[in-house]
Amino acid sequence: MEGGILTLGWRALRLLPPLVAWRILHSAPPWLLDAIAKASGRPPPAGPRVELFGRRLESPVGVAAGFDKDGRLAWIAWAMGAGFHVIGSVLPHPHEGVKPKILVRLPDGGTINRLGLPSPGPRPVVRRLKEGRPPIPIAVSIAAFTAEGYGEVYRSIADVADWVEVNISCPNVVEHRYFEDPSVAAAICDHLKPRIPPLLLKIPPTRDAKRLEEYLDLARACGFAGIVATNTRRIRYRGFEAGLGGPALFEDTLWAIKTLREWAPKGFVLIGVGGVTNGAKAAALLKAGANAVEVLSSIIHRGPLAPWLIALEALKELKRGEGSA
Ligand SMILES: Cc1cc2nc3c(=O)[nH]c(=O)nc-3n(C[C@H](O)[C@H](O)[C@H](O)COP(=O)(O)O)c2cc1C
Repeated sequence: MEGGILTLGWRALRLLPPLVAWRILHSAPPWLLDAIAKASGRPPPAGPRVELFGRRLESPVGVAAGFDKDGRLAWIAWAMGAGFHVIGSVLPHPHEGVKPKILVRLPDGGTINRLGLPSPGPRPVVRRLKEGRPPIPIAVSIAAFTAEGYGEVYRSIADVADWVEVNISCPNVVEHRYFEDPSVAAAICDHLKPRIPPLLLKIPPTRDAKRLEEYLDLARACGFAGIVATNTRRIRYRGFEAGLGGPALFEDTLWAIKTLREWAPKGFVLIGVGGVTNGAKAAALLKAGANAVEVLSSIIHRGPLAPWLIALEALKELKRGEGSA
């Protein structure tokens, strides 16, 4: 059975409230997680193959930021059959996140989260990746509360990241949220040099064409290689600001990818994330012009093999499309 030990572990975690499961994963000893991943092994390549930043990916479906805040789950992502893995968001200094933390599984396949960017800072992430990393591309998502902070964390993790996602769109941290405004986020650019590894701007969900254009202009003016669309949608939940992920986001994600692909220059990288719950949705984003897709709510609902299953389903969907074309 693909993902044997992983799937068993997930079945046990599934019995717990999602926040408890998330805390267990983030306090488990990294050596144990690595051992579980290696004993489980990687499922066979799912396809469809795509190229990203000169690397050939076995699958275009990666794990989105938020699943692995500190890099301890990188080998687990490999065993999940992910085409690539995004760690973070990593902050320049250790940060506890908000209180109370919330993580809810919704009946429609979505999630509500309010973690508030907890991060141990870059040190353990860099140490872990230098000690041994799985043979899939590893991106690092970065966030900060000041423009200088973005520069600081970028320089700290630049050596270990295949690319970097610049998160300006966490909906549940007040000190961070004002970077959602493109004119505020512009201050970050000067601190992110020399742009190796390449940078992608991770934007919030929007249906506002003018706002989307501003994000594209910002990414281009900053010399970024592309855009990740999108983060969770801001909602109120039990009196708190929180982020909504899952199916409710998909139409906005698809619109953003379609529109950005129309406007963006050739070679501009687009990663679609938000509501990718099955292969048909992943295939729709790839057809609309995404170079790759990421998932998170689907992992929380469908389990650790979600990235792999969604890639298999997407391949079938794309082949069916070719057959009927
Ligand atoms: C528990 C949780 C934590 C998250 N943390 C981050 C984060 O630290 N940085 C970030 O850029 N996005 C974060 N996200 C947003 C996801 O990366 C993703 O953009 C969003 O959940 C939409 O994808 P989905 O519909 O597949 O869940 C988080 C999402 C969840 C559910």
